[in-house]
Amino acid sequence: MNHKKTLPFSEITEKQKQTWSSGDFNQIARQNWAMGEALCNAADPLPGQRVLDVACGSGTAALVAERRYCEVTGVDYVPELIDRAKLRAKANGQKINFLTGDAQDLPFDDNSFDIILSVYGVQFAPDQEKAANEMLRVCKPGGLIALASPLPEGWSGDFFAVHAKYNPPPPEVTSPLRWGTEKGVQQLLGRGCSSIEISKQKVLQYYKSTDHALEVFSRWFGPTIQASQKLNDGERKNLLQDIKTVFDRYNQATDGRAIVENIYLQILATKK
Ligand SMILES: C[S@@+](CC[C@H](N)C(=O)[O-])C[C@H]1O[C@@H](n2cnc3c(N)ncnc32)[C@H](O)[C@@H]1O
Repeated sequence: MNHKKTLPFSEITEKQKQTWSSGDFNQIARQNWAMGEALCNAADPLPGQRVLDVACGSGTAALVAERRYCEVTGVDYVPELIDRAKLRAKANGQKINFLTGDAQDLPFDDNSFDIILSVYGVQFAPDQEKAANEMLRVCKPGGLIALASPLPEGWSGDFFAVHAKYNPPPPEVTSPLRWGTEKGVQQLLGRGCSSIEISKQKVLQYYKSTDHALEVFSRWFGPTIQASQKLNDGERKNLLQDIKTVFDRYNQATDGRAIVENIYLQILATKK
């Protein structure tokens, strides 16, 4: 048994949970709707099928899947986001089972779900093997694990790199961007799957301007808030400038707005 690894992962998970609890990811999640829609279209669940949204935040993919009359469950370890997800479902008249839980220790029986979705979610779990094994465990044989993963390049890669520069992750943690590489996905899910389809997809994020994009992330995005709090005034200014530069780099609008291109990896993995 490897006790050395277990303790850091639990501590890291607790710290990360505090990070995601700061700010309000629901304010950022409006940019994830399109990925939720696209992922659900690709996974194509049938009415009545059991669908799980892992690290669902305020319910992005879960709310989409329920519109197809699936039996949907969403799990995230931040209680405030689960409360928000419940509110959103209630406001829409949607019945979804939202509950708090860790992607590395899913509170479900083996072979419980036909389809598992995660949009920029499960990728953050520090014990990547455990998170992958948990998805494989709760997915039915022949079921689908469908993920939208941040790529190491493009907007996501650059955005992650800026945060890692100012707030380096602990050395035990493998980058979430491993889930955005074919090799990483094969390592994590390959042994439990009969096929894995991988494709690059494009999504656009919309803001009033790149200054506004920066404002949105500095106010609501946990990892930006946490990084800012650790820095002195000069370093914080540099962090914010670097974030704005990333938005400027991928901005396709020419009329003052920000229409930011994000290419991500779509993974459709069929469990053996
Ligand atoms: C970038 S947000 C995406 C949220 C949601 N999937 C969406 O697209 O709107 C990442 C989410 O992962 C959750 N998360 C990160 N690590 C987790 C873990 N180990 N277990 C459960 N949730 C986790 C965070 O609380 C946060 O809600």
